[in-house]
Amino acid sequence: MDSQNIFILGIESSCDDTAASVIYNGKILSNVIASQKIHEEYGGVVPELASRAHQQNIVPVVHQALKKAGVTKEELSAVAFTRGPGLMGSLLVGTSFAKSLAYGLNIPLIDVNHMQAHILAHYIDEEGFKKPPFPFLAMTISGGHTQIVKVNHYFDMEVIGETIDDAVGEAFDKSGKILGLGYPAGPEIDKRAKLGNPKAFKFTKPKVDGLNFSFSGLKTGILYFVQRETKVNPNFIKENLNDICASIQYTIIDILVDKLKKASKETGIKHIAIGGGVSANSGIRQALKDGEQKFEWTTYVPKFEYTTDNAAMIAIVGYLKYLEGNFTKQDIMASARLKI
Ligand code: KG4
Ligand code: ZN
Repeated sequence: MDSQNIFILGIESSCDDTAASVIYNGKILSNVIASQKIHEEYGGVVPELASRAHQQNIVPVVHQALKKAGVTKEELSAVAFTRGPGLMGSLLVGTSFAKSLAYGLNIPLIDVNHMQAHILAHYIDEEGFKKPPFPFLAMTISGGHTQIVKVNHYFDMEVIGETIDDAVGEAFDKSGKILGLGYPAGPEIDKRAKLGNPKAFKFTKPKVDGLNFSFSGLKTGILYFVQRETKVNPNFIKENLNDICASIQYTIIDILVDKLKKASKETGIKHIAIGGGVSANSGIRQALKDGEQKFEWTTYVPKFEYTTDNAAMIAIVGYLKYLEGNFTKQDIMASARLKI
């Protein structure tokens, strides 16, 4: 085994994206994603449809990832796959595929925790992007998760705060649904927020102990607010859409930054990293940048394509585990509720 030439295939299928990536010694050679448009008309991910689409996509996506990387499957050193957390029907597709491929090629199989992968995406070799030093705080914010994690080392992580109900991406998407926006609504709320007044409307922030989050109350608050106002003025949403979006986004960012501030103070850690689809939000990026001045933070945001669900982050974890000889066996099972 030549430790200088490590090629890992990463496979991700935990939710509604079928993705495959090839990494060579920490550098991404290909990063292919087939996103499933079918869920848009339902306003959210439909598990059965997701699983079926993964089955259709997995072979072409893996094939394309190898082709783009210019690597044959015989050259692969190992296959890494998302074991969980995620939707069981979706996870099973990637897990079964990875197991058979590794078995057929007689190479090691590496199981990856999706939430660890969102965090370890920061360790992909990429020009212009710095890697956080240990220990650091990672906030993973997406449609499926909201966590603050204390990262002591690659595989020594502690969840110190998480949502007790909706994920922050759901707060964006469900608010958008109330306003009649398409799914997912996060990007459009972000775009409109730039044109609106963040102080136009005030929404109540949840009171949650410690470093945990809650977003379901905010969603209900927004619903009642919109219902109340449209009774008075049926055109309320249309006439105030940018201001409503700006105010919702402002409240959400306030909630996130509050907890980050608290986590940083309690742990004494000033290296702050974010990941997950919501980290694309321009307001959150700005708030982090402001934190560098205000709270003396050093902040880390990975390249955009490594923040949303992708297989490059699975491949980098595969690479790090490969270096440790940390392999798994063929009897490994997908785990929908896998913890960090
Ligand atoms: O990580 P991701 O692609 O998939 C998972 O949920 O795991 O995240 C998708 C979420 C959606 O809720 C979407 O609305 C949100 O990320 N999102 C944003 C922005 N771009 C994507 N939310 C706020 N502002 C954005 N610019
Ligand atoms: Zn994710």
